[in-house]
Amino acid sequence: MNKDLRSFLAEIEPLGPGFFARVEREVDFNYEPCVIQQKLAALGRYPALRFDKVRGSMIPLVTNLFGNYEMLGLALGIAPGEPKRRILETFRERVANPLPTTAVARAGAPVKEVIQTGADVDLGRLPILKHAELNGGKYFTIGFLIVRDPQTGVLNAGVYRHEIKGRDSFACMFNPAHNAGYIYRRYQELRRPMEAVLVLGHHPAVVMGSLARGPIESDELEIMGGLLGESLEVCPAETVDLPVPAWAEIAIEGILDPARQTSDGPFSEYTGFYGPVKDPVGLMQVRAITMRRDAIYHDLDPSHREHNLSGVLSFEASVFDNVRKLTPSVQAVYMPASGSCVFTAYVQIKKRVPGEGKSAGLAAIAAEPNLKIAIVVDDDIDIYDEEQVLWAIATHCEADRDMTIIPNAMGAHLNPSAYGEIRHNHGPMNTKIVIDATRPVTLDFAPRIRPPKELWERIQLKDYITGG
Ligand SMILES: Cc1cc2nc3c(=O)[nH]c(=O)nc-3n(C[C@H](O)[C@H](O)[C@H](O)COP(=O)(O)O)c2cc1C
Repeated sequence: MNKDLRSFLAEIEPLGPGFFARVEREVDFNYEPCVIQQKLAALGRYPALRFDKVRGSMIPLVTNLFGNYEMLGLALGIAPGEPKRRILETFRERVANPLPTTAVARAGAPVKEVIQTGADVDLGRLPILKHAELNGGKYFTIGFLIVRDPQTGVLNAGVYRHEIKGRDSFACMFNPAHNAGYIYRRYQELRRPMEAVLVLGHHPAVVMGSLARGPIESDELEIMGGLLGESLEVCPAETVDLPVPAWAEIAIEGILDPARQTSDGPFSEYTGFYGPVKDPVGLMQVRAITMRRDAIYHDLDPSHREHNLSGVLSFEASVFDNVRKLTPSVQAVYMPASGSCVFTAYVQIKKRVPGEGKSAGLAAIAAEPNLKIAIVVDDDIDIYDEEQVLWAIATHCEADRDMTIIPNAMGAHLNPSAYGEIRHNHGPMNTKIVIDATRPVTLDFAPRIRPPKELWERIQLKDYITGG
């Protein structure tokens, strides 16, 4: 038995309304769950949400599983009160220790309780949402797709946007630079259809495994096991030669024939803006849907905070590792939701060598094409506290000396401010900024004010303030 979506929900529900909320009243599949989530966010609340009834479907929906950083920690077994840096440390340790999958019989796999094939297949029974008004249609937003590299036989998994095209087909929009983009092209060159399984609903650590930014040779199902802390149990799919996670909620099997493609979009993208129509993109022809008898559907409201938070640990790990190669004094990396996660990194170092701050920032910027702003601070600045980071910039840093602007670098095409080789054309380049907000090593710097240590430890507010 594996930890799964429902064991995670059972863990977070007792933590109260900051982590879990339930909507019993029926909601419409057009935007309604998203707007409820957005209204909660406007109040600074990011609980996972369970919608018992979405109009037109018998299947409940869960969303916002990655709505706050503490929830990522919970997925890795780290309680909300623990230091936040433990979250990335644990993620990096676990990704470095993948676990081989364990094969289980179909009979022991809850995902096989219901099997629909042929004319029984109807995606319309699932509570698939339309998330934003200008989106091309309804989308699967947080299913992970498992495919096999035809050259190496290695399994790959990733989250891609999937626009529904009919009762038994949906689009697959692979960024050409992602592993799935390479694998799909390999099938195109071989003129062979690509088999695939879309998995909807599992423990969030498993979903995070599909977002790992490893080389194409790494088996992401093994990384899922590493992150889960137990080998991922899998059983054979019904109609394709691929494994299906046994404790998933829903699995959709099918093939992508490169000779039959489609288009998708517009789509509410991770930048907070609509991304354009993409044409051509892959078309998945569904052969089977298997699920639990009481399946729960997993959704994510794209273009909002969760879109970037769900994969942020992979980005932070990649930035951390790149910075560490150049400056082993790196202590922590945090990519805050306020900076869209992927566009902004706070890097904390224990500076001992002149120039280390700037070098750490340059290494951070070089780690990820999306990253636009890297801010480096000393180890007495809490990078999880934005007030301290801005204070460090305001008091440690002078722009002409400590800010480095790097134009014409590889960036994020979907970022609306990105530009091409002709500056006023839109394109895939961004101008990067490194802000070194560390103190000098060999020069005097103003002493920082701190309360007397003994008094800070001795004073208990309740001894002074009623209810304190
Ligand atoms: C909510 C969400 C939506 C995503 N949508 C896409 C997408 O449409 N296409 C894509 O190529 N990557 C998308 N990504 C990013 C990939 O899932 C991610 O980079 C993954 O590591 C790619 O795996 P791969 O390199 O093994 O293909 C999305 C990520 C998230 C969290």
